[in-house]
Amino acid sequence: MPREKIIIDTDPGQDDAVAILLALASPEEIEVLGITAVAGNAPLHMTEVNARKVCELAGRPDVKVYAGCDKPLFLELHTAPEVHGPTGLNGPILPEPAMPLQPEHAVDFIIDTVLAEPPGSVTLCPLGPLTNVARAIMREPRVAGRLKRIVLMGGAQTEGGNSSPVAEFNIFVDPHAADVVLKSGVEVVMFPLDVTHQVLTSRVRMDAIAAIGTPVAKATYEMLDYYRQYDEKKYGTDGGPLHDPCVIAWLIRPELFQGQHVNVAVETGSALTIGQTVVDYFDKTGRPRNALYMRKADADGFFALLTERLTRL
Ligand code: RIB
Ligand code: CA
Repeated sequence: MPREKIIIDTDPGQDDAVAILLALASPEEIEVLGITAVAGNAPLHMTEVNARKVCELAGRPDVKVYAGCDKPLFLELHTAPEVHGPTGLNGPILPEPAMPLQPEHAVDFIIDTVLAEPPGSVTLCPLGPLTNVARAIMREPRVAGRLKRIVLMGGAQTEGGNSSPVAEFNIFVDPHAADVVLKSGVEVVMFPLDVTHQVLTSRVRMDAIAAIGTPVAKATYEMLDYYRQYDEKKYGTDGGPLHDPCVIAWLIRPELFQGQHVNVAVETGSALTIGQTVVDYFDKTGRPRNALYMRKADADGFFALLTERLTRL
């Protein structure tokens, strides 16, 4: 099986961090061409540092990290310190990164890489607001036609929203960017709250991560132990949803998830429902089926994969 060539676009974020660790722990299946930071869970100057901290935690200071957009296309930035903490990566104490931030802008890196790699070989894995991805698609019209696909965490329908009653954070922060991506013609695989809320960091699963006993596992435990508090309180669940690693787990073991090819559209105008993703399960609109919308996860299989891969770092 040829390796997946991916660019991870991210706003770390504890769940983003675990997604990055999972990708870096899976070199047989995944080649990380680079990591592009975007403003989201925290401001850009924090998310780019957090991305580098995680690469160094994984023992991979060679990974190229780029800073991208510091605000959405049109709206003001919303961050989520109440979920991720004031640094965006509260939990473990991680050293300031020694590895450099790449000088090139993230959007230029995405464009240059997609044009340089063979057509249809690069997958974008956005784990935050879609601002960087949308800007790359808008700035270089050839990008959309050359991408293999976009596998993203974002959206919600049956679960309702986590940033408004109807909107999920990544889409809510930059709905206009999501609209560009969903209308780009690129094959999109979406991991919405409808599926990520099935993969909860329960006590038993947290203990399995702690039992690994390595520095990476300890830091991961500390990240997740901080991060799960908000959702546990909000939803009354045993554990919080591990959103972003679903994207990477699907690339490694797609059979862990089930979805449906449907049309997904996003509200960009209404103050009441801005950022809502509208999923047309029964082709009522006649709009093209532009996304594989994930609805079911094998949570035990997901955590077995994650835990095993963490032992490799
Ligand atoms: O709604 C969850 C998403 O928003 C995740 O990607 C989380 O990291 C935040 O970015
Ligand atoms: Ca994220």
